[in-house]
Amino acid sequence: MALPLLILSIFTIFVAYKLFQRLRFKLPPGPRPLPVVGNLYDLKPVLVRCFTEWSQLYGPIFSVYLGSHLNVVVNSTALAKEVLKDNDQQLANRNRTRQIAKFSKNGMDLIWSDYGPHYVKVRKLCTLELFSMKRLEGLKPIREDEVTAMVESIFKDCIEPENKGKALVLREYLGMMAFLHITRLTFGKRFMDSNGVIDEQGQELKGILNNGIKLGTKKSFAEFLPWFRFLFKAENEALAEHDARADKFTKKIMKEHTLARQKTGNTKNHFVDALLTLQKEYDLGEDTVIGLLWDMISAGMDTTTITVEWAMAEMVRNPRVQQKLQEELDHVVGRDRLMTEADIPKLPYLQCVTKECFRMHPPTPLMLPHKANTNVKIGGYDIPKGATVSVNVWAIARDPAVWKDPLEFRPERFQEEDVDMKGTDYRLLPFGSGRRICPGAQLAIYLVSSMLGHMLHHFTWTPPAGVKPEDMDMMEQPGTVTYMKAPLQAVPTPRLPAELFKRVAVGNV
Ligand code: HEM
Repeated sequence: MALPLLILSIFTIFVAYKLFQRLRFKLPPGPRPLPVVGNLYDLKPVLVRCFTEWSQLYGPIFSVYLGSHLNVVVNSTALAKEVLKDNDQQLANRNRTRQIAKFSKNGMDLIWSDYGPHYVKVRKLCTLELFSMKRLEGLKPIREDEVTAMVESIFKDCIEPENKGKALVLREYLGMMAFLHITRLTFGKRFMDSNGVIDEQGQELKGILNNGIKLGTKKSFAEFLPWFRFLFKAENEALAEHDARADKFTKKIMKEHTLARQKTGNTKNHFVDALLTLQKEYDLGEDTVIGLLWDMISAGMDTTTITVEWAMAEMVRNPRVQQKLQEELDHVVGRDRLMTEADIPKLPYLQCVTKECFRMHPPTPLMLPHKANTNVKIGGYDIPKGATVSVNVWAIARDPAVWKDPLEFRPERFQEEDVDMKGTDYRLLPFGSGRRICPGAQLAIYLVSSMLGHMLHHFTWTPPAGVKPEDMDMMEQPGTVTYMKAPLQAVPTPRLPAELFKRVAVGNV
């Protein structure tokens, strides 16, 4: 008798609360939610496409319930400005899932921290110290080492006699480069030896990353049934185990660097050394140092791989653009030396191609969700405190009201009009805007431009035999970050002298 009564009471409280919210607030329209599950069963797998369709149905701002949690999605330039500029501070909190709450020690890092004194302090540290132009310059040799290592490994594979004319799966090379770069920048170590073998510590790191993805993508009803979380014992234990494993790994690396600094008296440019030497000045707890290190890995690895994979798909689909970019590279860099980051300012077409890729394929198409820390009004509707707000930057960048022929990949549009992509123009927001804008934006632009420039300078890319460029699958894979659904396959043909395909290795930076 007691259990049915309990369930009935919970249901009544829930319905009464929803009714109260409806009467009290003028919420944005949206699909009708069911009790408890909300609109979970209405969602299509590629969320950004589903939301873009819904914006045609319900208008540029709509509500969607993930379980009982209210999410508001905005899909226009004007509303993006209302969210990210006019109400920036009120919408600068984060919504933490159970897994994220556990892993970020309830927001002791930067990405998942709510807006407040802790956030302001850590953000200042990132802006002034970790992502300063001076540090990015100091870390440049790592980027150039890893990008040339990637080119070398593609070259070695494509000249193997049995691979002649065969397509390679680009994600494998891009992903490895992104992994080696970001882990080296963050943990100050290359986890791969000179024979291309990932060492034991690197294997452990990969294990942690894969387990994190497994836990993060697993559908869990515990997420949407907060009152019944105690019933999900095995899941809770798996999260605690994962967290402890990552902590153990990170503490070992921190200890190694502390000992090395004590021994040599040298502080390196990478983030572990930077954070450990700034720990006192910025009053950072150990949880924050660990959280920040993992933030960089989770924010900076997939995003660059995804962007360059989409960019390369566009190069294969658009031979005209590919050829024009190669002509620019040949003209500015020539064919007898390697391109470097110092060439990028002299390569305006490369910059336009990079921007066009960020417009059409932002890797975080709904940005990261923001959360209201007070009641606010957006587009004339109420957003109650605690609701999540997402900006559909993918839909905005494909909106025919603000872009001419938005579905056409045409880098020249940025020669005709210089549109900023670092948060001041609300038509193009791959990195977000306002207080929570991506602090790694400049690093990401260097990386993507350099990777793309090298790939096109060194090779000509064509589709696999029998595949027409116009038939390539340009669908997204479901997920917060949108990989291509079908990993890109393309055939590289080397176009520079063989001696220019060697990795330019640097020691410890
Ligand atoms: C193609 C590359 C990248 C793209 C498109 C991108 C995009 C974004 C976006 C959209 C956000 C959320 C902004 C918001 O909530 O309003 C974000 C946040 C963040 N990104 Fe990036 N990012 C990229 C690369 C990187 C890299 C390389 C790093 C660092 C190594 C990085 C570090 C971060 C951090 C720490 C945050 C959290 C900022 C905060 O909450 O205050 N990102 N990024």
